[in-house]
Amino acid sequence: MQYKVIAIDGPAGAGKSTIAKLVADKINYTYIDSGAMYRALTLKVLESSMDLQDKEAIIGISEIVDIDFKEKSIYLDGEVVDKQIREERINKNVSYISAIPEVRRNIVQLQRRISQGKNVVMDGRDVGTVIFPNAFLKFFITASLEERAKRRCTEIEDNGTQADLHDIKSQIEKRDYIDTNREDSPLIQAEDAILIDSSGKSIEEVLKEVLTYIASNGGKIDVV
Ligand code: CDP
Repeated sequence: MQYKVIAIDGPAGAGKSTIAKLVADKINYTYIDSGAMYRALTLKVLESSMDLQDKEAIIGISEIVDIDFKEKSIYLDGEVVDKQIREERINKNVSYISAIPEVRRNIVQLQRRISQGKNVVMDGRDVGTVIFPNAFLKFFITASLEERAKRRCTEIEDNGTQADLHDIKSQIEKRDYIDTNREDSPLIQAEDAILIDSSGKSIEEVLKEVLTYIASNGGKIDVV
């Protein structure tokens, strides 16, 4: 049997992971959050209290790090770290760590290994360009910076924490800048990706759009 990958890339806060999870549920594929893996690695690096300038040490950790997904949770060295990887300190540091080419090589290997033998919906920055250039379908989901920052704010507030729109906006802008301008696997729309601008659209609208593309490209959908 040939397994399929659906790649969903785009900038921070565009709603990729929300859409990717819903799509995966609808078509009974496995959802894999490639960004969560860089976040878990960043957590391990921060917990090891090493010098963040010490690239060799960070690369060393990326070679041995144990990251896995089970039952919709992410495990770092056998522990669930769903909450910790969303902390502020991770947001601030992840893009520096994910820009190191040797780190990317190791994490991409892991991302491919975790996807083996499964139909997968994976979201991230380089899923359609680097991890799975032959993906069955590729989407690039974006939205205006203003809207992405507002969505992130609402998400944080819904989780019971105060959020400052201005801070979040500049943080997202900074992360996008690093992700887009790094030399290795920058955030870029793959030539054969379908562009969806989700500004002003509801989750349901974007989901419908994605599912329609999947169905019209021969993807099997048992819509629940
Ligand atoms: O959810 P959000 O869009 O904020 O980010 P994420 O998908 O959790 O990714 C966190 C960070 O990991 C990004 O800002 C990138 O620096 C890095 N990343 C990457 O380099 N390549 C990927 N395929 C996914 C994430």
